[in-house]
Amino acid sequence: MTSTTTPLNGNRLIFFSPTHTSAQIARAIGEGIGMERRIETDLTLDESSSPIEMQGELCVIATPVYGGRVPTLALQRLQRLKGNGAPVILVVVYGNRDYEDALRELRDTAISLGFVPLTAGAFIGEHSYSTPELPIAAGRPDTDDLQQSRGFGKDSLEKWNQLHTAGTPIPELTVKGNFPYKLWTPGAPACPTCTENCFACGECIEVCPTHAIHFNADQTAIETDIQQCIKCCACVKVCPNKAREFKSPFAAILHEKCSARRQPELFF
Ligand SMILES: Cc1cc2nc3c(=O)[nH]c(=O)nc-3n(C[C@H](O)[C@H](O)[C@H](O)COP(=O)(O)O)c2cc1C
Ligand code: SF4
Ligand code: SF4
Repeated sequence: MTSTTTPLNGNRLIFFSPTHTSAQIARAIGEGIGMERRIETDLTLDESSSPIEMQGELCVIATPVYGGRVPTLALQRLQRLKGNGAPVILVVVYGNRDYEDALRELRDTAISLGFVPLTAGAFIGEHSYSTPELPIAAGRPDTDDLQQSRGFGKDSLEKWNQLHTAGTPIPELTVKGNFPYKLWTPGAPACPTCTENCFACGECIEVCPTHAIHFNADQTAIETDIQQCIKCCACVKVCPNKAREFKSPFAAILHEKCSARRQPELFF
């Protein structure tokens, strides 16, 4: 429980988002909140460990779902945040299969970092393994998702304003998910590979959250450290020549079994 007597000091969007769907949802929520002072903290490539102190902003924390959980690397990156009692809107974005315990895990993590959960939502984004041949939630978040995200931001601010006017603390927020969390093991090491269309431009090197990709000795090709790869597919999606592929055995199963459109779920 926190005090709602102090006015809000702007809006901060915090995200870990290798393929940008979590970032898109966070930004749409920020638009719905509509505050003049809006800052972004993108943790996707951020390896720094120096603390980031919240100063009474209305925060949004958005991460993808990996295996029904918050990605381990996102949890590590979030450790820099010092909530200092700031209200937070919690968001997980998943690829139309399920988010299982991820939102619960994100809520518990935010509390441990000193935030006070205000609202939460599970949204749908194009699956990292989606390809034109085997689409999985392709193109999401779409116009409807982004409109719902903006509405969610507006409604979340409205909730805070009502509590602020009444001088009432934020009550405990309940979200879907269980503790102990679902067990997730990342599986056997694997990573995307390059086709002959790779012209060693290096763009994929720039977006890899774990620095798993390097030029070879004479800079004519790229190499990937399979042990470092978290299979996020940022490199696949960014390649301007469609020369990067990740052949996941799960893609065909997800394409077949997870085609029914799922809708965002919101928690107030
Ligand atoms: C390793 C890995 C595991 C994933 N696990 C799940 C999952 O359990 N359920 C699901 O629906 N989507 C899963 N996804 C898909 C992502 O949650 C989805 O594509 C999300 O939109 C990616 O967010 P980003 O664009 O912010 O990186 C997984 C993706 C990866 C790379
Ligand atoms: S972005 Fe594509 S073309 Fe450029 S180095 Fe990476 S795989 Fe090769
Ligand atoms: S090499 Fe692995 S960790 Fe790096 S961007 Fe590609 S899929 Fe993600």
